[in-house]
Amino acid sequence: MEKQELKDLNAQEIRTFGRRHGKKLSNRKQWLMENLLPKIAPKSADFGNKHTILEIGFGNGEHLRDLSINNQESIVIGAEPFANGVAALLSAITSESDNSLMEQYKNIRVHPDDVRLLLKKFPDSKFDEIWVLHPDPWPKARHEKRRLLNHEFLNLLSKHLSKTGKIIIGTDHWEYYDWIVEQLKQTNLKIKSTDLDIIKTRYQMKNKAGTSNPKYLILSNN
Ligand SMILES: C[S@@+](CC[C@H](N)C(=O)[O-])C[C@H]1O[C@@H](n2cnc3c(N)ncnc32)[C@H](O)[C@@H]1O
Repeated sequence: MEKQELKDLNAQEIRTFGRRHGKKLSNRKQWLMENLLPKIAPKSADFGNKHTILEIGFGNGEHLRDLSINNQESIVIGAEPFANGVAALLSAITSESDNSLMEQYKNIRVHPDDVRLLLKKFPDSKFDEIWVLHPDPWPKARHEKRRLLNHEFLNLLSKHLSKTGKIIIGTDHWEYYDWIVEQLKQTNLKIKSTDLDIIKTRYQMKNKAGTSNPKYLILSNN
């Protein structure tokens, strides 16, 4: 039974996230999921021309919105399988009066599912920045196989980096951090820096790991 539970049938990969759904969505959020979301799905035309940023597991999307505002000339793609997180983002990037997408967020694209499906759909896609902030730490030993940032996935991300592309990872779970550093030994990725000002995200502020600060990794292929 455990094995079956761990399988995400869509991705045919071990499931790395907790829930897909939380509490019932408001009518407005439901409307946005049905009407806006399909319009801002990533398309092949989004890749290749502009500086492209990917955020994996954006939660409620606070950091994705910052990326969008601070990189108006870039395409900012977010992947998140938790429907309530996606709906929270859609609500925050649209006007309450007429549900239209706010001008400053027109560069956002949303893949409402496992990022591995997005990468399978666009096998040649390249990203200039890939952000993974507070990936689910799966602290119990029997759940270790659910950790997203294993060496296979890191190798996959490395193939999706542009020539000067960077992967930015942050976690307050220091044991997971050390585990990722170990996984990196089975990749060609290099640690360029571990120095980043603390990025406040919803999950980081909960500080479930009880550590004094998040730790960061900035990686590149060269
Ligand atoms: C601990 S939360 C952190 C959310 C947010 N980054 C923050 O810092 O507040 C981890 C998020 O990663 C998402 N996630 C897990 N596996 C994923 C995958 N394979 N593809 C995309 N998102 C994933 C989960 O649904 C969850 O929302």
